[in-house]
Order: sequence, then C-alpha cells, then structure tokens
Amino acid sequence: MPEKSIRVRATASVANVSCGFDCIGYAIAEPSDDLTIETQEKPGIEIVMSGIKADSIPTAAENNTAGKAILSFLNTVDSQQGFKIKIKKGIPPGSGIGSSAASAAAALVGVNELLGNPFNLNDLLIHGMAGEAVASGSFHADNIAPALLGGMILIRSYDPLDILQLPIPDNLFSTAILPDFTVNTKDARRMLPKRVPLKSAVEQAGNLAGFTLGLHEADFDLLGRSMVDLFAEPVRAELIPGYHIVQQAAMDTGAIGCGISGSGPALFALSDSEEISRKVGIAMVESFRKNGLNSIAYPSPIHRKPPEILD
Ligand code: HSE
Repeated sequence: MPEKSIRVRATASVANVSCGFDCIGYAIAEPSDDLTIETQEKPGIEIVMSGIKADSIPTAAENNTAGKAILSFLNTVDSQQGFKIKIKKGIPPGSGIGSSAASAAAALVGVNELLGNPFNLNDLLIHGMAGEAVASGSFHADNIAPALLGGMILIRSYDPLDILQLPIPDNLFSTAILPDFTVNTKDARRMLPKRVPLKSAVEQAGNLAGFTLGLHEADFDLLGRSMVDLFAEPVRAELIPGYHIVQQAAMDTGAIGCGISGSGPALFALSDSEEISRKVGIAMVESFRKNGLNSIAYPSPIHRKPPEILD
C-alpha cells in the first residue's frame, strides 16, 4: 500500500478563563503548531520535533502528548499502523496557552483523516486528554477541547464527559501575552489547594454562572464582574513577576477582565473590540518590560474552527 501523508495546523488556547478553573477554555487564532503526519510500514510512532523550544519536548511516543494521544487512538481501533509525526512547534511549550494540546489535537485530526475518519471530533477528545495527562499529570480538557473543537468550551462534567459550546458575542476579543519564561504545568498543579473553603466554592460557582450568562446576553459588565478566580490565581500569581501590575495595565487600557492563561506564565485579557484587544496587548507587553521581562502579545478573536487540514 502506498504511504500517505497529511499536514494539519492546530492553534493555541486559553484555559480556566479566571472563574472556569479546569472547566472553561477557548481557542485563539495564533500561534499554532504545524504537523506533518506520514503513514509508515513499520509499526510504532516516530516523532521528529522542530520549531520553538522543540529540544525541551520528549520524542518517545509514550512521553509526548501527540504520541500518547495517537497511541490511545490506535489502541481503541486496534490498529498496528505506524506513523511518522513531524511536529513544528509555533507555540512555546510551558507557556500556558495549550502548546501540548495543540500538538495532540493536530495529530489526532491528521491520523483520524488518514485512517478514513473512524471518529468524530468529540470522540477524539478522550484521546487528546490521554495526551494532556502526559504533560500535566492530570486529566483536564480545558485546552484540548477548544484546540479540537474550536470556540469557547464548557466542560460541564468530566465523568461522564459532557462538553458544551458556549455562545461567543460577536465583538468579544482576546489578548494572550507570553512572557519569556516557562512554567511546568505539573509543578503549577502541585501548588493548587487540595481543598477550598465553602465560601470560595460558592463565590466561584456564582462567578462561573455569571460568566456563562454574560456570554449568552453579550453583557460585558457581567463578564468582567465574573472574571475572578479564587482557586488557582491566588497561589499561581507569585510565579509571574509583576503579575498584578500587568493585570492592572490591561484593565486600565479597557480590558473587560484579565487573568492567568491556563497554568501560566501567559496572561490573557478579554476586550469588547479588536482595537482595544490590540492596545491591551501593547500595554501589557510594556508593563512586563518595566518588570524586566520580554513578552509577545497575540490579540485575536475567539477562534471558532477545529484544526485545519492544510494538505
Ligand atoms: N486547567 C489547567 C490548569 C490548564 O490550570 O492546570 C493547564 O494549562
């Protein structure tokens, strides 16, 4: 049988979105990972890494998020098909914008296509989560779900898995800011409290409900009031030099809300126009600079598409 090849691009994502720890995430238009996936005669998964900070990513399939996701997929369909996966990283690993999820999502979409699409995108999610577990040591879906499905996703339940698309107001824009250092997701998860006070749980639940209603009604004041995180931000903020100052710079420039993207060190902000999302990016980069850190801003609409098959 002649060997086949496919190229797939998957984009970055913002997880947690302040009040939605482990249960809300959205996709952004850039940066992205670009994967070329080739069938090969010999069984097994061969991974070749290139691009940004590629040296820091393991190439053994079991330890690589894309490799592990594909092993989980192949195990389910009982296939011995071998693949060579060339991963060109455009999303820095350890940045907090779903780098590992993007590679896993693109790999799954590519392998699914090469094998005649035995699964739909929702079915691929569980395999993507197996990949994510390699990077974070936990089964969370708030990066992999938006990376695979696009849009703004609510994970209503993990067991059983219940994934819902939230409505996105037309003029809602995101800004992701990547400071030039990494945070290991496993370490950032170890910092989390094992228990939270009932009062905090009630407040977080209220904010999460307010956030989803704010999306439904395109009520940006309500969105902003709801973007408070009592679970992760209080402990993770200390990982990011100048965090509260940079956050304030975003708010002073007109952002609706601003928080830590995933487990950091990236920050994200939401705005009600493209122009403000760009200005917020400039203000946050400048604020990080004053705190001695280089950073890059990615203003973007909420990206509504699944990974793109390029050729
Ligand atoms: N929800 C996950 C966390 C996202 O905050 O640990 C990791 O990027």
